[in-house]
Amino acid sequence: MFGGFLEHMGRCVYEGVYEPTSRHADEHGCRTDVLEQLARLRMTAVRYPGGNFVSGYDWRDGVGPRAQRPVRVDRAWSNLESNQFGTDEFLQLADRMGWTPMMAVNLGTGTPESASDLVAYCNAPVGTPLGDERAANGHPDPYDVGLWCLGNEMDGPWQIGHTTVEEYTRRAREAAACMRQVSPGIEVVACGSSDPNLRHFPSWDRAVLAGFGPGLDHLSVHRYARKLTRDTRRWLSFGRIVDAQIDQLRTVLADVAHAEGWERTPTLSFDEWNVWYRTMPTSLWRTRLPARVNGFAPPLIEEVYTLEDALVVAGFLNSFLRNADLVRIANIAQVVNVIAPLLTRGDDLLVQSIHDAFRMFSERRSGDSLRVTQRGPTFDLWRAGTQPVLDVTAVLGRRELHVLAVNRDPRRAAPLQVELSGRVIAGVGECEVLTAEDPRARNTWRDPDRVRARPLSGVGVTDGSADVVLPPVSLAAVSLRLAD
Ligand code: AHR
Repeated sequence: MFGGFLEHMGRCVYEGVYEPTSRHADEHGCRTDVLEQLARLRMTAVRYPGGNFVSGYDWRDGVGPRAQRPVRVDRAWSNLESNQFGTDEFLQLADRMGWTPMMAVNLGTGTPESASDLVAYCNAPVGTPLGDERAANGHPDPYDVGLWCLGNEMDGPWQIGHTTVEEYTRRAREAAACMRQVSPGIEVVACGSSDPNLRHFPSWDRAVLAGFGPGLDHLSVHRYARKLTRDTRRWLSFGRIVDAQIDQLRTVLADVAHAEGWERTPTLSFDEWNVWYRTMPTSLWRTRLPARVNGFAPPLIEEVYTLEDALVVAGFLNSFLRNADLVRIANIAQVVNVIAPLLTRGDDLLVQSIHDAFRMFSERRSGDSLRVTQRGPTFDLWRAGTQPVLDVTAVLGRRELHVLAVNRDPRRAAPLQVELSGRVIAGVGECEVLTAEDPRARNTWRDPDRVRARPLSGVGVTDGSADVVLPPVSLAAVSLRLAD
C-alpha cells in the first residue's frame, strides 16, 4: 500500500534518482539526497519502468555494457532515451533501498517471448542462457522478482499498442503463461480501466477478469485526482470518490468470482495514484499528430503541491486503509520530479507537502486497519451527499494505536475523542500535524518549509480514551500507547 512508481518519464529517472554528474551521486550514479528522502517514505513495492513508457520499451536496450547501449526515441513521451539506467540498475537500487521490485512487461509492441525473456533475465539461474547473460552483466544471483504487471493502461487510446479488451486479455494470458513457465511462483497484475471516468469502466475490468481466468492475482487500478472545484471541503472529500470506485470494483470482483466459481478473488493494485491536475503533457492529447522529439529527460508534469493537495493524498491513503482487505498494492505516482513528493533543481532538492503526508502514514503502517465507527459533525456537498468533517482511519499495532485524521473544515478546528473498544489507551506516543495558515500554501525554492509536519501538542489521555484538537485544514497522525 505504501509503494512508489519510477518511470522513464521526464526527469524521474535521469536528474531524479540517477544523475552521475551530480555532487550527490554515489558510486552507482544515484543521487543520495533523493534516496535519503525516499528512504524516509519507507516505500514497499516500487513499480518500474512504466507507465506509458513500457509499451514501446525493449528491455534489452537497457542491459549490458553502458557504452554499448543504444539511444532511442521514446515514443510514449516524445523524447530521447539514453538507456544508461535499465533493469540491472533498477533492481540493484531496489535491493539497496529495501523496495520490493514490481516490474512491468511491454504488451504494446512487445511479445509474450520478450516478456518471458525479461522474467528469465531477472529470475533464471546461472546455467540457463538468460541467467548466464545476467551473470555476464555482473549479477550471477537471480533477482527473484515476484511481482509483474502485464502491460500498462492498454484500454487507453494514448497507449502504444492500445487494443480491444478481447485482444488485450489474450495477450496478457499468453504472456503470463510464458512468464510462469520460466518462473512459476510469480504474481501477475492485469490492466483494469485506466480511469473510472472512461465509458468502458467497469465493463473492461469485468471482461479482463472473466477472460483471464482464475490465475490472475491482481487487477490494476489507476486514479489521478483532478481538482475541478475551488471549494476546499469538496476537494478534501476526494477520498470518498476513491471509496466509491473501490466499492464498484469490489462488486465486479465478487460477481465474476461467483459466476466463474473461483475460490480465490483477485485483489486490487492501485499501481498509479496521486493528485495531478496542473500539468498535462501535450503528447497525451496529440496522439494522432507527429510529435516533436524533445531531448533527453525534458521536464514533464512537475506539479508543485499545496497543503490541500497533501490532504487529498491523505484521503487516498485513508481510503486504501479502509479497504485494506481488497487493496493489496498501491504505488504513488511517481517518486521524484514527475508528479512527485520530491523535486530536484541542479543539485538542490525540494521536499513537497505530499511527502510529509505520505510519511506520516507510512511510518504508522504496522498493524491491522480497523473499522472505525464515527460520530460527529457533517456537511452537505451538492450532488455528493453528506460527508463527515473528519476523515478518520486507525491502525492497531501490538501496543500502539495509530489514528490518521483529516479535518476538512477550512475555518474551524475539530475536536476528536478516540476510544478503542475492549482496550485502554494509556499514554501518548509521537503525534504530528500537517497544516499551514493557507490551504493553498506550498513549499517553494524560496520558502521550502512552509508546509511541514510539526509535533502535535495538547493530546490528552483521560479514563482510557484520548482527546485531540485538529486545526482547520489539517492532517493529524496520532500514536497512542495501549495498556497491556
Ligand atoms: O504517471 C504518468 C502516466 O500516467 C503514466 O505513464 C501512465 O500510465 C498514466 O497515464
